[in-house]
Amino acid sequence: MSTPCFVANWKMNKTLVEAHDYLTCFAQGLKREGSWEMILAPSYVALAAVARQIQSLSLPIALAAQNLHHKTEGAYTGEVSAAMLCDVGCRYVIIGHSERRVYFGESDALIAEKVLLARRLGLLPILCVGESREERENQMTSAVIRRQLQTGLGLNHQTFSSDQVSFSDCLIAYEPVWAIGSGKTPSPSEVEEVHYDMIRCMQAAGLPASKMPRLLYGGSVDEKNIALFMKEPHVDGVLAGGASLSAERFMTIIELGKKAKNG
Ligand code: PGA
Repeated sequence: MSTPCFVANWKMNKTLVEAHDYLTCFAQGLKREGSWEMILAPSYVALAAVARQIQSLSLPIALAAQNLHHKTEGAYTGEVSAAMLCDVGCRYVIIGHSERRVYFGESDALIAEKVLLARRLGLLPILCVGESREERENQMTSAVIRRQLQTGLGLNHQTFSSDQVSFSDCLIAYEPVWAIGSGKTPSPSEVEEVHYDMIRCMQAAGLPASKMPRLLYGGSVDEKNIALFMKEPHVDGVLAGGASLSAERFMTIIELGKKAKNG
């Protein structure tokens, strides 16, 4: 069984003081036992301070960025490179979140470039995929997810016979666009069905089970529904936005999620 994984995406929230208070509260209340992984994605400007505090409090938290630029360096005012993220202590980077796809016009092709660059420079992608409400209503969920997954991971352009190509340390977050921040979610069995479909899609591309990424669910995850999602066999973890903004709430989510997964 894979290690249950809990991603907190703070989005455009928290000043440095608020980030500091959150981690202080987290350090006081955290139950460290068991095998689990937490990944925290603060804003770019909080990354360095959060990294320092994680280290000084010895917190078992890996750092993620919420985005990166698809070029290595150069004249791209306002952008942040993969090397800068590595430098500040990021292990992961969220790529293709639906807010980037929708509000910033990020295409599947651009997202694929980012995934490739991140992996080349040693950052582990958390690739987000998900259908819109309209796509769901038109029974396009599987087609959309498969397209985003195949393009994002470059499944059609890679062979998996060499030892070098593996996605086993990457994460895929299935996040239906209509479920994000809405308080609405698919049922756990619908999430399981999409996750299983992603596995079949990767299998069809020749990716062996040992090289597959872990699969997360995201979209209005909270204390009430976490256990139901985590009980599904192919849900390895969750990505939470709103409910991750309170340290107490997120600790509860981790506890309930661990229990649901490990029995
Ligand atoms: P939410 O956000 O938990 O607030 O729905 C999830 C996400 O956008 O990743």
